[in-house]
Amino acid sequence: MAALFYIISVLCLTSVCVANHWSVFKSSLYGLVECKQDKNTNLPVDDVQIYLYDFQNQMNLTFKIGAALDGITSKYNLDVTRRLIFYVPGYKSHIYKPNEDSIRQAFKDVPNVYLIMIDHSAYTNGQGGKVKSYERAVSYAFYIGKALGEFLAGLHEKGYPSKNIHCVGHSLGAQMLGYAGVAYYNKTSEKISRITGLDPAGPCFSNALIDEQIRSGVADYVEVYHCNSGGLGTTSVLADTDFFFNRGRKQPNCEGSIVPGFGEYEAAKCSHKACVRFWAASVGHPGWYLSWACNSYDRFNSGSCSANEVTLAGYWNPGNATGVFYISTDAYGLQ
Ligand SMILES: *[C@@H]1O[C@H](CO)[C@@H](O)[C@H](O)[C@H]1NC(C)=O
Ligand SMILES: *[C@@H]1O[C@H](CO)[C@@H](O)[C@H](O)[C@H]1NC(C)=O
Ligand SMILES: *[C@@H]1O[C@H](CO)[C@@H](O)[C@H](O)[C@H]1NC(C)=O
Repeated sequence: MAALFYIISVLCLTSVCVANHWSVFKSSLYGLVECKQDKNTNLPVDDVQIYLYDFQNQMNLTFKIGAALDGITSKYNLDVTRRLIFYVPGYKSHIYKPNEDSIRQAFKDVPNVYLIMIDHSAYTNGQGGKVKSYERAVSYAFYIGKALGEFLAGLHEKGYPSKNIHCVGHSLGAQMLGYAGVAYYNKTSEKISRITGLDPAGPCFSNALIDEQIRSGVADYVEVYHCNSGGLGTTSVLADTDFFFNRGRKQPNCEGSIVPGFGEYEAAKCSHKACVRFWAASVGHPGWYLSWACNSYDRFNSGSCSANEVTLAGYWNPGNATGVFYISTDAYGLQ
């Protein structure tokens, strides 16, 4: 990987960079990554951690995944009428990163909700450089997703209704939830009520078989938000509803550096993460975000779709519209 960045740097000292920076950046994501999704290795995922937050009682509990079901249900009298928000972060995350904090803040004052956050960083954090560590994280995605689905199925067996479970995942976490939804169904013959994918990971998934991706059918209702489609986020449009924020590729205040080539990766990361902030911001704003059915951003932007079906995107999405919808964040004063 060091070699790759050396090559990029050298290219960028020449005019070749101007033409090639995006393709070099993309090939570093899509070309050099070897996507291994072996389902027969039974990789252990014991070090995945489950954080349960009950904000209205100022309480939180942490368990390793293998001890979480008994730990939570024996120590704690779960109110199964509350909505469970089950958040799975992406590659290179952990529980105290700014995105995870924005999710905690969003639900801090929401009544009748439990928040569970997952920390899978033992398997998905840097090891052996960018490419190798992403490859490693991808190879764990199936096993982590399956373990999460089986944990939720265990909660269901202890009385938690499927209709009160809402899973939200960012990036690789969104892809894990595709597997989690299937594992839950395998165990319970019921579906999780909603899975929300926030810019599901693209590299290793956009080009994979449909069964390897978050998609319609893995929950009763599946919605996907696109923020860096074709970069770090997927290009696949496979959910019941696919929402595109601002064309779905590049978000406001996420410009690359003015020197072409430099900063491209940072800019992609910025847009990719914006999906979490945008979604989290909607929790406290029941009217956000108006979105319009449309077949392209340009048509949406020129007003050609203003008479089309309108729905709400974000936490308050009623979940009864299907297809592709566009949102402009201009009116919402987001940073
Ligand atoms: C979790 O609970 C501990 C006390 O048990 C508290 O100090 C900590 O601030 C809590 N964390 C959050 C994020 O609420
Ligand atoms: C669900 O069950 C099918 C059929 O037994 C199995 O092949 C698949 O691996 C299971 N998927 C998960 C994520 O548990
Ligand atoms: C979707 O649900 C919302 C809220 O319940 C309702 O106002 C709206 O009319 C429904 N739309 C459709 C197309 O059924």
